[in-house]
Amino acid sequence: MERTLAIIKPEIVERGLVGKIISRIEEAGLKITAMKMVRLTKEQAEGFYYVHRGKFFFHELTSYMSSGPVVVMVLEGEKAISRWRLLMGATDPAKAQEGTIRKAFGTDIQRNAVHGSDSSSSASFEISFFFSGMELHA
Ligand code: CMP
Repeated sequence: MERTLAIIKPEIVERGLVGKIISRIEEAGLKITAMKMVRLTKEQAEGFYYVHRGKFFFHELTSYMSSGPVVVMVLEGEKAISRWRLLMGATDPAKAQEGTIRKAFGTDIQRNAVHGSDSSSSASFEISFFFSGMELHA
C-alpha cells in the first residue's frame, strides 16, 4: 500500500468541477483517506513548492496556487503514486493523453487542474505539509 498527495487546483474549484475529479479518483479504485479545502498564503505555496524555487515559473505558480481555495487529499492504494500520475496525465494539458484528467479539465501548463506527488519522498513531505497523523484515516 502506498499514499500520495493530490491537490485539486483553484480553477477547478472555481469552475465547480471538484466532484468530477473525485469521481475519477474513486472510479480508478484509489481510496481517499484524508481530504480538506484550504486557501494557501503565498508563503505557504512557496513552502509547498520549495523544490521549484529559482525556476522561471515559481512566482507565477505560487501566486496561482494561493489565488483561491484548493482541495487537498491523500489517496491510498497499491502503487498509488504512479497510478495517480497516470490518471492526471502530462503536466502540460496540451501534451496529456486522451482520457486523462489534465486533458479533460486542464487549461494550460499552470492551470493544469490537479497536482500529484512524484515520488515516495515527496509524498511523505507533501502529506505531512497538509495533514497531521490524526487526520489520516485507514
Ligand atoms: P504541478 O504538478 O503542480 O507541479 C509544479 C507545477 O508548476 C506544475 O504542476 C505546473 O502547473 C507548474 N508549471 C508552470 N509552468 C511550468 C513549466 N514551464 N514547466 C513545469 N511546470 C510548470
